Parts: sequence; structure tokens; C-alpha cells
Amino acid sequence: MDKFVISGGKPLSGDIPVSGAKNSALPALAASLLTSETVVLRRIPRVKDIRTMMGLLSSIGASVEEDAGTVTLRLGGAVTPEAPYELVKTMRASSLVLGPLVARHGRARVSMPGGCAIGARPINLHVQGLEHLGAVVTQSHGYIEAVAPEGGLRGSTVHFDRITVTGTEDLMMAAVLAKGETVLENAAREPEVQDLAVLLNKMGARVEGAGTSRIRIEGVEALHGADHAIIPDRIEAGTFLIAGAMAGGDVTVSGCEPEHLTALVAKLRQAGAEISTVGEGVLRVRRSGGLRATDITTEEHPGFPTDLQAQYLALMTQAEGISFITETIFENRFMHAPELQRMGASIRIEGRQAIVAGPRPLSGAQVMSSDLRASASLVIAGLVASGETIVDRVYHLDRGYERMDEKLARVGATIRRTS
Ligand code: EPU
Repeated sequence: MDKFVISGGKPLSGDIPVSGAKNSALPALAASLLTSETVVLRRIPRVKDIRTMMGLLSSIGASVEEDAGTVTLRLGGAVTPEAPYELVKTMRASSLVLGPLVARHGRARVSMPGGCAIGARPINLHVQGLEHLGAVVTQSHGYIEAVAPEGGLRGSTVHFDRITVTGTEDLMMAAVLAKGETVLENAAREPEVQDLAVLLNKMGARVEGAGTSRIRIEGVEALHGADHAIIPDRIEAGTFLIAGAMAGGDVTVSGCEPEHLTALVAKLRQAGAEISTVGEGVLRVRRSGGLRATDITTEEHPGFPTDLQAQYLALMTQAEGISFITETIFENRFMHAPELQRMGASIRIEGRQAIVAGPRPLSGAQVMSSDLRASASLVIAGLVASGETIVDRVYHLDRGYERMDEKLARVGATIRRTS
């Protein structure tokens, strides 16, 4: 198992290019199941979750070719409409094949995800939505089987009880081939949902309102092929902005979409970091003085993203004062806190809130990754810790960050990967 060995205490300086968004690429890959024509997706990040999704699509029957970040997909022949437990247990986003498979192939059998390190993460809202479109859904042996009615799915109004990102995406993909109009109420407004709508419309779908909480979809008979470049990864960009604010120095993050980062940028400025736009898609982060404690509460987009909470918490260990970090999206997303405490941070967890007292000097230690974003927070902490920090189980990190060690080393961090 790979580890990162980090020697902290060096300011960062230089440019970090951002990759394509993992959480946009995953539904885009699944959308290729909606047509028999060729779909070309560009700027696909080379991360483990993407390889898992490509493996799933091949096992379903698609031909999948990858070349330098461009993936070409075609599902022309026989289809095995199934997402097995072995894949779903490693990546919950596998449930994104549910909607497109039922819509175009009339049937899908997808393993139920079970719990994970950050919470229960059920898919009941995906299932309820499909039932509204007429699918008959049954559950047995740990699998969900959804079957479209005679004549295919039928458009309907779906009101999500709570906002779900992949649930919204799954239902959008089901509704594009349903008969008549579907309205998704209380839909997720994340940029990744908007990106999927752009791709679906390029494929001939009629999706309106993505990016708002009401999405209207007029079903069409069939979709065709398309060529689409994935949006930049706002969570990767945000992670590097936080790393820059933490380590000090002068870092630019290029190829990002500042519009997608407004909640984080506002908080970083409040905390004392200087953030400026220095060109199209380029944000610069510097810091002349110390950091100030600032509270955050995670929310659905456009609020502060839960996927940056762990990294921001690491930053607050170095800020003057007490900060309150409130997690409202997932029930168990503070697994990084005990590891940061082992490095010397002062953090108290009270239910869904972490109370961080700073600044506390961090000292390098051997720490364990528990999930993707928690791992990123440990790496960020390692950048300012004295001595050596060893982050174990970086396979969690490799699920969603493309060559994070190399990107940080290029801007002056002392970080290396060992097996
Ligand atoms: N939920 C339900 N029922 C459902 C679906 C969700 O109760 O059927 C609950 C979840 O348990 C959670 C909340 O609703 O408490 C929100 O979950 P959501 O469905 O929005 O999460 P997701 O779609 O499974 C995506 C990202 C996550 C990100 C969340 C929240 C992808 C592939 N994953 O997950 O990304 O944290 O939205 O923004 O898009 C990551 O990249 O590290 C990551 C975990």
C-alpha cells in the first residue's frame, strides 16, 4: 500500500494546474449508456474512481478506450445491466448506472451500497424517483432491481425529500428518454449537475433549469453521440487553495472555474488569505499575516462544500482563535479529527460540530487516511508540521486526486510516495 512521506515547513511557490472534475466525469461516463452512438469525453481525470467506472461500463458491455485524458465510449451490442457488489462497495457512484440502464435498456440490477466511512449513504431517493417514473423496483439479496413498465418510463414530477447530487443526476438520465415531461423539484444545484445537463443536451436531450432547484426534462425518443469536455474540479482547486493558505508562499491554481469556488474564496479571505484572479481561470493565494479563526457550515451548492470541510478544518488548526466547523451533509465526516489531534491539533467533536482552537504547532506523525477528503486534510496538515508526516493508505487519495504528490512537489513541497 502506498504512503506519502512529507517533510513540512516549506512555503509553496508556483502554479498548480487543475484536472477535470471527478464528480462530473462519473455521471458523464454513465450517460454514455443512453445511446448506441459514440460519446467522446475529454479532460477525464486519471484517478481510481474513474477507472472503476470505466471497468463497470465495460462489464455492462460498452467499448471503452482511454487516451491521454480522452475517453471514447460506445454501447452498441449486448448489455449486462448490472452493477455488482464488488464495484459498488468500492465506489458508491456506481449507482449512477441505474437511471440510464432502466431508461434505455428497460432493466437494471445494482448492488445496494451499504455504509461507508462518511455515513450511511443510502440510495432510497434514487429508487423513489424511478418509481415515480413508473419503474417497478424490488430488493433482494442485497441488490436493487428496477424494471421499466411496458412502453418505457413515463415523465412525472419528482420532489426530492432532501437534496441529493447523484440522485438528481440519476433521475435526469432516466427522464431524458421517458415519455413526456419530468420535473425534478428540490434538485441539486451543483456545477456537476449543470455539466451533465450540457452533455445530455449535446446528445439531443431537452433539459432545462439545471443549476436551479427545479429541472424540467422533456423526454425524447433516442439520444445520439456527442463530444464533451468535463468542467474543472472545484474540489481539487479548493484543496490546493487551502494548501497555499496553510503553507504560505505564493501559489496560483490554474484552469479552474472561480465561479464554482465563491463560498471557499469568501471564507479564505475572512481567514486572512489574499485571493486574487490573475487571469482567466487562474486564482492566486498568498498570505502576509497570520490566519484568523472562521466558522463554516457545510451546505449544498452554492454553500460551503462538504468535500472541502476536512481540508478547511486542517487550516483552522493554524488560525488564531476558536472556529466552529459544522457538517450538515454527512453524519460521520470527522474521521480526520483524531488523526489531526495526533499531530497536535486541538479539536473537540460535539455531534455534527468540530470546535477547533488554534493556532497549535503540528508535529509530524504517522497518520491514517479514512476517506478521500480526510486524506487530503492530513496531507495539508503535513505541509506545516515539523518533522516527517507519513500518510498511510493513500489509495483513498488516489480515488479522486490526480497525482497530488507530484503537483505539490512541483510547487516546492517535500513529498514523496513510497510503497
Ligand atoms: N441521501 C439519502 N438518500 C439518498 C441519497 C442521499 O438519504 O437516496 C443523503 C446522504 O446520505 C447524504 C445526503 O443525502 O447525507 C447528500 O448525499 P448526496 O446524494 O448528495 O451525495 P452523493 O450524490 O452520494 C456526491 C458526491 C460526494 C459529495 C456529495 C455531497 C459524487 C460522485 N459524489 O455524493 O463526493 O460529498 O455529493 O456534495 O458526485 C467526494 O468526492 O469525496 C464525495 C464524497
